[in-house]
Amino acid sequence: MLPEHFVPVAADKIYRLFNIGATGLIAAEFEGDVDVMPASWVCALDLIPCKVTAVIDKTHYTRALVEKSGYFAIGLPGAGIVKETLYLGSVSKNDEPDKMAKSGVALLEVPNSTIPMVEGCVAWAVFKVVSEPHNEKSYDLFIGEAVAAWADSRVFEDGHWHFETASDALRTLHYVAGGHFYKIGEPIVVE
Ligand SMILES: Cc1cc2nc3c(=O)[nH]c(=O)nc-3n(C[C@H](O)[C@H](O)[C@H](O)COP(=O)(O)O)c2cc1C
Repeated sequence: MLPEHFVPVAADKIYRLFNIGATGLIAAEFEGDVDVMPASWVCALDLIPCKVTAVIDKTHYTRALVEKSGYFAIGLPGAGIVKETLYLGSVSKNDEPDKMAKSGVALLEVPNSTIPMVEGCVAWAVFKVVSEPHNEKSYDLFIGEAVAAWADSRVFEDGHWHFETASDALRTLHYVAGGHFYKIGEPIVVE
């Protein structure tokens, strides 16, 4: 059962989820094995269908799940799960098989995807890998084409973000380094 505020995002608006440059949580699943890692280096690449780039280092456990399944998901964590986000990026499932349980995050099932989504994110999208072996091998750079997306309607509705009317826990995270994040700030609208 999906949370009350979880609403689908139209295909022509998915790129807007990624235009704000938020830290992502990359999730992947293969034969029931699930892992999630934060990634600062996620970026919109194309409008319709939305494509993104994501840098997923070849040493990460998540990477193998992406390669084996051909899919990944990106959630945009809200500030309410900043500690869990840092945990997911400080511990590898290579070293800690119970990483997901120990992270404390709750996982949500979404329609038509076996990749679980992390509760406490404010947007989620599932991507099919667009195979570019040279980029993947040389730069750890993956391209994904969106197949579905959802957002928390308290902060994203009708194709627009509106963080200013919601709680701080729902503001996206923007990573610097060493556990130092910013929450997204106030809007500036130029008419
Ligand atoms: C906030 C944050 C952002 C990160 N961004 C990236 C990234 O863009 N690409 C990447 O390969 N690793 C990134 N990392 C590192 C991985 O998330 C981290 O090594 C993680 O533990 C890998 O987990 P896994 O081996 O279970 O997949 C980041 C870590 C943090 C804390």
